[in-house]
Amino acid sequence: MAISTHDSAQILATPIRGMKDLYGVEIEKYQLIVNVAFQVAKTYGYRLIETPIVENTSVFSRTLGGESDVVSKEMYSFVDKGGANITLRPEGTAGVMRAIASNKLFVNNNSPLKLMYCGPMFRYDRPQKGRYRQFHQMGFEHIGEKGPYADVITIALAMEILKNIGLNDVIVHINSLGGSFSRERYTKALVDYLCKYENKLSAVSKLRLKKNPLRILDSKEFTDIEVCHNAPNVQDFLTNEDRQYFVKVLELLQLWSIKYVIDPKLVRGLDYYTHTTFEFKLSNENMYRDALGGGGRYDGLLKLFCSNDVSGVGFALGIERLMMLLGEQMLPALNKSAAVIPVTAEEYESAFRITGLFLNEKIPTELIITGSNIKKRVELAIKRNCSHLVVIGNDEANKKEVSITVVNSATRRNIKYGWLEAIGFLKSEFVI
Ligand code: HAM
Repeated sequence: MAISTHDSAQILATPIRGMKDLYGVEIEKYQLIVNVAFQVAKTYGYRLIETPIVENTSVFSRTLGGESDVVSKEMYSFVDKGGANITLRPEGTAGVMRAIASNKLFVNNNSPLKLMYCGPMFRYDRPQKGRYRQFHQMGFEHIGEKGPYADVITIALAMEILKNIGLNDVIVHINSLGGSFSRERYTKALVDYLCKYENKLSAVSKLRLKKNPLRILDSKEFTDIEVCHNAPNVQDFLTNEDRQYFVKVLELLQLWSIKYVIDPKLVRGLDYYTHTTFEFKLSNENMYRDALGGGGRYDGLLKLFCSNDVSGVGFALGIERLMMLLGEQMLPALNKSAAVIPVTAEEYESAFRITGLFLNEKIPTELIITGSNIKKRVELAIKRNCSHLVVIGNDEANKKEVSITVVNSATRRNIKYGWLEAIGFLKSEFVI
């Protein structure tokens, strides 16, 4: 069947499933969130880094875990024209580690690196509310410092960012997987337990039982959730040292009055975590259940890229999820701007000249000449949220004057100013 021009235009104009354009109020929310977050993180000593959106596939497959959902199902991987296997980044931490190694950024053991980044990530997941195939994260990585203090300051930074964008009712879900010895001991106990219920597990979990059993705790399948309900608790398998580490983390959280809940099934979706893992969720899960962000400690990750065997801790926040919860009242009032409106086409040139004068003086100004008559042009200026209407009719143009009306003011309507006077008035109004 032939495709009509109309259909073909419609297909051309459709974005890829799970990906969306950001504009209008949405992009304003996006910018507000990122600005606030980076401002707060700067006070905690973080500096910006930007890494490429594509990396060699191995950067992710060797670090996130071959059995993780992200690597096994969700990566956008391609062979490029030169035959290299490349992947659109599904997360930011692995790329930042690669960048630290490539650029030898970690030179001094006494000076931890604190890096922050923001940008699009890609996961071929089933799109739903708050879950997209292209989404945006802000990430914060603190590399070169081990111990509960670094963990808790990292968690505190996330909470401070969330508070500053107006999300006060957030709780930290926290767990510890311990170091490699605790983890092995726990994994063995978990496998022993799950083997008893193998026939009840989902097909994917049956496979994972052999390859990466911890992932089963993460499963969203109802049957797996039921089986895992009585699974052994990771806390019971921590070595003394690992348990003390975790207890200290909890003590420090209390010291800074950070609300938390221990979640022994929180293994997180990526394999590089050791010791502390955490997620940030709304206290009221009826409002939104999924995590607004998450992270944890990842000792040993940088070692996969270079000889620096230093530990790290970090987290990422999902910007779309924050945008969804950010009320429009948090957005700053729209900035003031002047609309220069000629009454008829005769005054276009004068209006053009005065627009130039205003812009030279850094007065935000728009020349409004769309619309068949003055009424339509005034309506358009108001629709565009211009705060001051600067009208030029024949009389004004001849006398080098303008009539200024302040929108939403009962008293300041149609007041005439000479051009220079008008500049002075607007500059005082706009505080320039
Ligand atoms: P993650 O938990 O995979 O961790 O992602 C962090 C956050 O990104 C999630 O909590 C969620 O808000 C958001 N997110 C993830 N997938 C999607 C999606 N498909 N659509 C919308 N939002 C999504 C990481 O990525 C780690 N790199 C975090 C980290 C940094 N760990 C240590 N340092």
